[in-house]
Amino acid sequence: MEKKMRDLEDELFPSTPGKVKIERAHAMNRQFHRCFASTSTMFLWALFLIALTASYLSFQSFVDTSSKYFTASWGGLHWERQVRASALPRRSNGISVLVTGAAGFVGSHVSIALHKRGDGVLGLDNFNSYYDPSLKKARKTLLASHGIFVVEGDVNDARLLAKLFDIVPFSHVMHLAAQAGVRYAIENPNSYVHSNIAGLVTLLEACKAADPQPAIVWASSSSVYGLNEKVPFSESDTTDRPASLYAATKKAGEEITHTYNHIYGLSITGLRFFTVYGPWGRPDMAYFSFTRNILQGKPITIYRGKDRVDLARDFTFIDDIVKGCIASLDTAEKSTGSGGKKRGQAQYRIYNLGNTSPVTVPTLVSLLERHLKMKAKKNMVEMPGNGDVPFTHANISLARRELGYKPSTNLEAGLKKFVKWYLSYYGYGRSNAGKNL
Ligand SMILES: NC(=O)c1ccc[n+]([C@@H]2O[C@H](COP(=O)([O-])OP(=O)(O)OC[C@H]3O[C@@H](n4cnc5c(N)ncnc54)[C@H](O)[C@@H]3O)[C@@H](O)[C@H]2O)c1
Ligand SMILES: *[C@@H]1O[C@H](CO)[C@@H](O)[C@H](O)[C@H]1NC(C)=O
Repeated sequence: MEKKMRDLEDELFPSTPGKVKIERAHAMNRQFHRCFASTSTMFLWALFLIALTASYLSFQSFVDTSSKYFTASWGGLHWERQVRASALPRRSNGISVLVTGAAGFVGSHVSIALHKRGDGVLGLDNFNSYYDPSLKKARKTLLASHGIFVVEGDVNDARLLAKLFDIVPFSHVMHLAAQAGVRYAIENPNSYVHSNIAGLVTLLEACKAADPQPAIVWASSSSVYGLNEKVPFSESDTTDRPASLYAATKKAGEEITHTYNHIYGLSITGLRFFTVYGPWGRPDMAYFSFTRNILQGKPITIYRGKDRVDLARDFTFIDDIVKGCIASLDTAEKSTGSGGKKRGQAQYRIYNLGNTSPVTVPTLVSLLERHLKMKAKKNMVEMPGNGDVPFTHANISLARRELGYKPSTNLEAGLKKFVKWYLSYYGYGRSNAGKNL
């Protein structure tokens, strides 16, 4: 039997694939007929197939459980101790904050600022490879040097979230984990749905179920203003014309958080950030890639709007954004629900956090040239219609009034700090700069 099967296998999978001669194919046919002619061989074949299926299925479930078991990057007594220690405030009346996206640009800065005040901070990040994960690891190392622990996990992991809320009674959640970037949605639309919609709902479910319920501050985006032309953008403006899937998921986030506020009494503050930049920034953003290319002597592509109008952005320095985030945490009222039921009306707020002085992209480039002491090779290209909007400009009077938000770093001063960080992180050498990207 075994030999017969091996022979058959040889016939079905010739050692030189694609070279089966016609005669051999006829011979194969004959052998098939011979093989299935007797009912007893047929019975053996059926048995063989059943065994094969069964072993495949059990192998699958083994793979499933083993991958859960072996690749789980969380759990265990030592891990729990790290979680608890990191989340513990070191001052009286200090808050305890779960910061999602803590290995990200904004998340790492907010985490350090909170920790420096004596608040408890626990980070959560999935270290995805949307941009160079080694930069995220470096931020994690920086946070660890301050005594902040970043859990490696996804906001879609409900079991992990339940575990974290089980270990720590977080008073606040600073939700910054997201799929950022506008153009990448053309390539990978589902990553936006995964992190910005499904992940948000999973996180809100965990917050709803937690006792006590935390107050939530989360990052929306100026992109929700979409195709609006009225400037400056005010919170009360309509936001129903998004220009990208990214914007649409942020807008959806504002609606989703509203329902959790309405039904379960979660305290919600949504922050519409306007083009944040600074040290430890995001390599996918223009100011970052311009810097890299200028240093490497490579050309940069500058998009221009209709009729050769320059694009403009309300660039906001990271330290100002951090101040706005912390002021939001400090002024957030408690959530009112417990056991999945609302006890009273909870706070629902939305704020613009911008700098409120838009700068054109060519001006950004000339500031970089000045700081880098190098000329850029500029390639002016008409903006393709893939999600970017021509300009942004924040009206920040609401945040000023209610949060005491007052941006204090202009683009010139902020870029100087960015360039200083960039050169110290990647080095001066042309070939060296950006070698990790
Ligand atoms: N930087 C800006 O100009 C800007 C402007 C408007 C809004 N925002 C928003 O601010 C927040 C922070 O942005 P950033 O610039 O720091 O981006 P970032 O990409 O540097 O940080 C986001 C972090 O979240 C992590 N993350 C993504 N999906 C996750 C998931 N499913 N589970 C766990 N972790 C996940 C990523 O690994 C990353 O480290 C985001 O919500 C972003 O949409 C940023
Ligand atoms: C800015 O927003 C406030 C509301 O917060 C509004 O009263 C004011 O008119 C807006 N300013 C402009 C110039 O649109």
